[in-house]
Amino acid sequence: MRIDVVTIFPDYLRALDLSLVGKARTSGLLDLRVHDLRDWTTDRHRTVDDSPLGGGAGMVMRPDVWGQALDACAQPGAHLVVPTPSGRTFTQRTAEALSGEEQLVFACGRYEGIDARVAERHRAAGGRVSELSIGDYVLNGGEVATMVMVEAVARLLPGVIGNPESLVEESHGAAGLLEYPVYTRPPSWDGYDAPEVLLSGHHARIARWRRDEALRRTAARRPDMIKDLDAAALDKHDRAV
Ligand code: ADE
Repeated sequence: MRIDVVTIFPDYLRALDLSLVGKARTSGLLDLRVHDLRDWTTDRHRTVDDSPLGGGAGMVMRPDVWGQALDACAQPGAHLVVPTPSGRTFTQRTAEALSGEEQLVFACGRYEGIDARVAERHRAAGGRVSELSIGDYVLNGGEVATMVMVEAVARLLPGVIGNPESLVEESHGAAGLLEYPVYTRPPSWDGYDAPEVLLSGHHARIARWRRDEALRRTAARRPDMIKDLDAAALDKHDRAV
């Protein structure tokens, strides 16, 4: 998969050189390119913003500069992702859908955002556009949100996670539940004992305990997820583990 990120702070994205995403890049599973938006400015001051039409506070990112940048980075059919607190919420389902694309282009806005015609023009040219929010809070720009989304998408690409089974059991995975609590050795630590069932070697009892804990956790922390539970999918998932 190819991912292009356009930003006025390319250094922000350095963290994507590390860990699993970094490895996916060096092994060729992920072709990630980070670009400085100012490379497409034409004035001496390398200006990327201007005051909002209609007045008001802050600055808006200029469509002409963004247009040049996207023309240079986006291949035909590229899916443009614009991180913004006014977008639809990015979820694991969104990550799954985006992981099937050939090219994603992340347009990181700053200030009051990017002139709306940039998205409009990409759509009119037949490209898809997703304006996405990573949660109900406001960040200073799209860079951190882009890192969140790139990591969530990249770990779904075939070969990026060593053991793909670890994708099945995790929170927001196939079961639609939060993940159960996990323990490792030693079984007794500083007066705290791990649940005995996990030492029993009894696979069916362990699976039942994990399922109960996942349900308990989900009901307590995310009651909104319980109403979306699909009982048939849950049973099918139980039989598979
Ligand atoms: N830019 C600023 N805040 C954001 C958020 N919550 N999600 C995505 N992009 C953003």
